[in-house]
Amino acid sequence: MAIDFYWRLPTHGDHATIRRGSLDRGDWSPLAPGNQTPGLTADGEEDGYRYIDHLAEIAKAAEISGFIGGLIPSFPTTDDPWVISPLLARETKSFRFMIAFQPGFLNPVQAARLSASLQRATGGRTVFNIITGGGGPSQLWWGDSFSHDDRYGRTSEFLDVFKGVWKDPGFTYDGRFYSVRNGGLAPLLGAEDIPEIWFSGSSDAALQSAARHADYYLSWLEPYDQLQDKFARVKERTAQLGGEQKCAIRVDLVARPTEEEAWRDIRIGFENVTDETRARWRGQPTDSVGAARQAALRPTEAKRWDELVVGKNLWGGFNLLRGGPALGIVGSYEQCAEQLDELIRRGADAFILAGTPHLEEAYRVGEEVLPLLGRAATAGLLQAAE
Ligand SMILES: Cc1cc2nc3c(=O)[nH]c(=O)nc-3n(C[C@H](O)[C@H](O)[C@H](O)COP(=O)(O)O)c2cc1C
Repeated sequence: MAIDFYWRLPTHGDHATIRRGSLDRGDWSPLAPGNQTPGLTADGEEDGYRYIDHLAEIAKAAEISGFIGGLIPSFPTTDDPWVISPLLARETKSFRFMIAFQPGFLNPVQAARLSASLQRATGGRTVFNIITGGGGPSQLWWGDSFSHDDRYGRTSEFLDVFKGVWKDPGFTYDGRFYSVRNGGLAPLLGAEDIPEIWFSGSSDAALQSAARHADYYLSWLEPYDQLQDKFARVKERTAQLGGEQKCAIRVDLVARPTEEEAWRDIRIGFENVTDETRARWRGQPTDSVGAARQAALRPTEAKRWDELVVGKNLWGGFNLLRGGPALGIVGSYEQCAEQLDELIRRGADAFILAGTPHLEEAYRVGEEVLPLLGRAATAGLLQAAE
């Protein structure tokens, strides 16, 4: 089976280098000379670029470097993926847009029609990352006070209704969260393919809902044994329901010509981390099982960058350098490819990769790492088939 590779689109600004903490790409930090997209002209005026122009550059770079599409995250701090996607679709040819969203915040019938229109307009390039939220203050930011398991109950019903109105003219549903009478999309819209569903979350409730609804179960990188075990659990649950689950991993890479260069960038990045970032690292209260699994990977304090090396070519401090999940891959191009191969061997069917800065690293990972992996992955798959 071919392995699909997605890239990540940074909808909350980007760092010009992993070695510095400042968000100097985009208008998330005060505009200053040297900032990009937008930046300032010599007269101190904005240069006319919008951040969407920069995202388009990243999407194009990823598209021509071998990535099938891009994940568009959704947090209180980001632009909205539903708006970003059609804008970027006009700038690319076949690139798919993985829209992250929390189902609870949209009516499922409206979401189905919105998605079917997007499928029609883009030639079927819509993909979803279904997220169910991490509770705590950021959930309340959205105006959502549902408990963890109620949120998953709502996600599951949302997907029942979403798929039901798409496939079934006259669809009727009576659930705890949604009721529909004589629903169903207009035939022209209903003829479109339902977007592929990727599903994130590590709790029991998440695995249960993924088994019912997901095309791909998606996880952040975790220690490989732990991840393999989680993949096996969700595959088993899906098999019990008569389906087959594919699994995917979202992970950052620092890939350099040599291993020394890769760790050097990590060391410099770590040394530039400010106290303010370190405080943020401890994070907000959350009920997310996935976030707790990430937090458990790292010591609460680290004085040196190498205290966060958690395995061969694995570093547990990525969230210090750029927010997001903790664990990522660091090494030479060959070593990065070997790690991805190992993950394929352990059950990964697809990846969402990322690197900082997202534009240049899309070219680098696409041109330097993926071709190596292609050979190794093919060999691995042939062996598996014997
Ligand atoms: C790969 C991945 C990507 C995620 N992306 C987002 C996101 O864009 N926005 C968000 O609010 N949560 C995101 N999450 C977190 C999800 O909201 C997830 O549902 C949350 O961790 C709670 O689930 P759990 O308790 O089942 O682990 C992501 C999680 C994973 C694994």
